[in-house]
Amino acid sequence: MFAKPSQPAAPIEGPRHVALIMDGNGRWAEARGLPRAVGHREGVQALKRTVQAAPDLGIGCLTVFGFSTENWRRPAEEVSDLMGLVRSYVASDLKRLEREGVKVRVLGRRTGLPADIEAIIERAEKSTAHNDKFILQVAFNYGGRADIVDAAQRHVDLVLAGKATGPLDEETLGLGLSTAGAPPVDVIVRTSGEQRLSNFLLWEAAYAELVYQNVLWPDYGPEALADVVLQYRNRDRRFGGRATPYAAPALAVG
Ligand code: IPE
Ligand code: IPE
Ligand code: MG
Repeated sequence: MFAKPSQPAAPIEGPRHVALIMDGNGRWAEARGLPRAVGHREGVQALKRTVQAAPDLGIGCLTVFGFSTENWRRPAEEVSDLMGLVRSYVASDLKRLEREGVKVRVLGRRTGLPADIEAIIERAEKSTAHNDKFILQVAFNYGGRADIVDAAQRHVDLVLAGKATGPLDEETLGLGLSTAGAPPVDVIVRTSGEQRLSNFLLWEAAYAELVYQNVLWPDYGPEALADVVLQYRNRDRRFGGRATPYAAPALAVG
């Protein structure tokens, strides 16, 4: 038998930072007899709806998984469709993001990306760098393991150059990750019913809440995000400590 908590936890505030594994574009398209590319295109519309809804829900930072270091294993045509969406998303939305105070950051390795995509990413980051109303982090050619390796390598390089000393600690390693500077990740959401991280934010996931939603990403929007906020507020984050207030279960005196 599973014991019930003796007392419901007091509702918590937030989340400030929500990370989304936007999954299910292919299944959404296949269920309609459409090419997967259409699912990815609809996924961009869902992303726009979701980003627009986030500030009103009290969220200050969204991190979305757009392309993993493992997604290169997909057929070349699909990879090229996904690259094309970066071009169209930035072309159709960058002006609005700039105007609405959104700071865009792109997480992940730049090497291996088509040159024009690299340039588009740099332009998006540069033209929104001064914004501070909302942070949108797009993980693209991103892998959690690669990000940790890169952070460790950065530290090694600094030590070899005589600009840092060991031993390496969690805070220093964290400063080398691509998410450095963003608030801590409060909750990681995965859509489509799959329940795994697929190499997303491995370090940052340490004490993040996990929410799995059965909606396919192209159907995502404000209601689904509001449901994440609700689920999160009913969680009890203990970080290895103890729930507060702690009410000891009554002892049966016999
Ligand atoms: C998510 O949708 C988008 C990317 C991984 C880029 P998928 O393309 O993974 O969709 P499913 O999982 O095949 O349905
Ligand atoms: C993770 O989804 C990557 C993105 C959402 C961009 P995948 O669909 O690639 O993950 P797996 O292969 O099902 O684990
Ligand atoms: Mg998938």
